[in-house]
Amino acid sequence: MRISNLTPEDSEGASALWDQAGLTRPWNPPEADLLRALAGETSTVLGLFDGGTLVGTVMVGHDGHRGWVYYLAVAESHRGTGLGRRLMLAAEDWLRERGVVKLQLMVRSANAGVLDFYDRLGYEDADVQVRAKWLR
Ligand SMILES: CC(C)(COP(=O)(O)OP(=O)(O)OC[C@H]1O[C@@H](n2cnc3c(N)ncnc32)[C@H](O)[C@@H]1OP(=O)(O)O)[C@@H](O)C(=O)NCCC(=O)NCCS
Repeated sequence: MRISNLTPEDSEGASALWDQAGLTRPWNPPEADLLRALAGETSTVLGLFDGGTLVGTVMVGHDGHRGWVYYLAVAESHRGTGLGRRLMLAAEDWLRERGVVKLQLMVRSANAGVLDFYDRLGYEDADVQVRAKWLR
């Protein structure tokens, strides 16, 4: 198992993994998110490879102040073996190396079950409300 930065060539594998993990939405093409994150100087997508197979991802970046993660996913076949934790620790290290001292993340209300996972990793309720606006 190794963790490395994804490249644009990993787009198909990452999209398939995110579809399986229930993270994609029809109105938001994941390939575009991946390419944008890889092109940015303050973001990347880390991939966990079992041999040559992509079995986990986390998108990580910072906005100059806080760090954020998106697209945390572990293939169903590999869950429950500590890989989700390993990916989150890798994302935390990536941010620490860039001087970022706080990591934030958003969980869809429909996916509230995953909050227990983040609790296990030491993430606390930030007691904030999030607002969003489409900029089309
Ligand atoms: C969330 C996810 C990445 C966890 O990956 P994983 O590899 O199974 O997690 P780990 O094996 O590293 O688990 C780490 C710890 O969290 C616990 N845990 C994992 N999933 C959990 C869950 N759904 N509920 C409660 N605890 C959970 C594990 O038991 C383990 O506990 P430990 O501290 O006793 O070791 C994986 O379930 C997934 O890909 N889900 C679908 C995508 C998703 O919802 N992503 C998050 C979007 S916000």
